[in-house]
Amino acid sequence: MFETNNLRIRAVRNTDFEKIHDLWNDLRVQKSLSPSYVVPLGNKFEETLRTSAADALLYCIIETKDKGNWVGFVNLFNGDQKNRDAMLGLALCPEFWGRGYATEVLLFVVDYAFRELALHRITLNVFGNNAAAIKVYKRVGFVEEGIQRKANWSGGNWQDVVLMAILDEEWAASKGDHGE
Ligand SMILES: CC(C)(COP(=O)(O)OP(=O)(O)OC[C@H]1O[C@@H](n2cnc3c(N)ncnc32)[C@H](O)[C@@H]1OP(=O)(O)O)[C@@H](O)C(=O)NCCC(=O)NCCS
Repeated sequence: MFETNNLRIRAVRNTDFEKIHDLWNDLRVQKSLSPSYVVPLGNKFEETLRTSAADALLYCIIETKDKGNWVGFVNLFNGDQKNRDAMLGLALCPEFWGRGYATEVLLFVVDYAFRELALHRITLNVFGNNAAAIKVYKRVGFVEEGIQRKANWSGGNWQDVVLMAILDEEWAASKGDHGE
């Protein structure tokens, strides 16, 4: 289990999958995570979640330290062993948005990924209209590497898909900026 100022970042348990499923079924969250059809997801989806968690390099649940509230999940998946690259995923329950939790979690996870998991890159895709996520990723040090133009249909509009990544050397160079 990991701890940051306000949060615990712990291993996923069997009892978490219902909550993760519910989080995906919040359509505000699902449309930020998935380029597929945004639809209520039934029981079979929980099997998909369990498989993804089992296959992930890191799949953790985020809780508040003070009250033990269930906040969301963070993961590193699709690890490319040869190139030491992994994809980042993150989602929080909407009632916890805007408190700095995503920034707090990512500052820890990115540091851990480079320092302990020996990654060289962390990669992610984010939809161009997800201003909150892009702000957090840039603040943590992710750099925009490319754009797939109008690649996702959402809310009656085409959205760009933005590819972002951070390198171990960039993280090392920026560590002073994060007060370490
Ligand atoms: C994206 C997400 C992880 C951000 O979590 P969070 O804990 O609210 O993020 P933080 O509070 O650390 O930072 C969010 C920042 O974006 C800003 N922000 C929020 N909505 C915004 C908007 N519409 N436009 C611009 N900035 C916005 C906030 O003010 C905050 O900046 P500040 O700290 O300078 O005030 C959360 O909204 C979420 O789980 N969304 C659904 C899933 C998702 O999008 N995951 C990422 C997929 S790539």
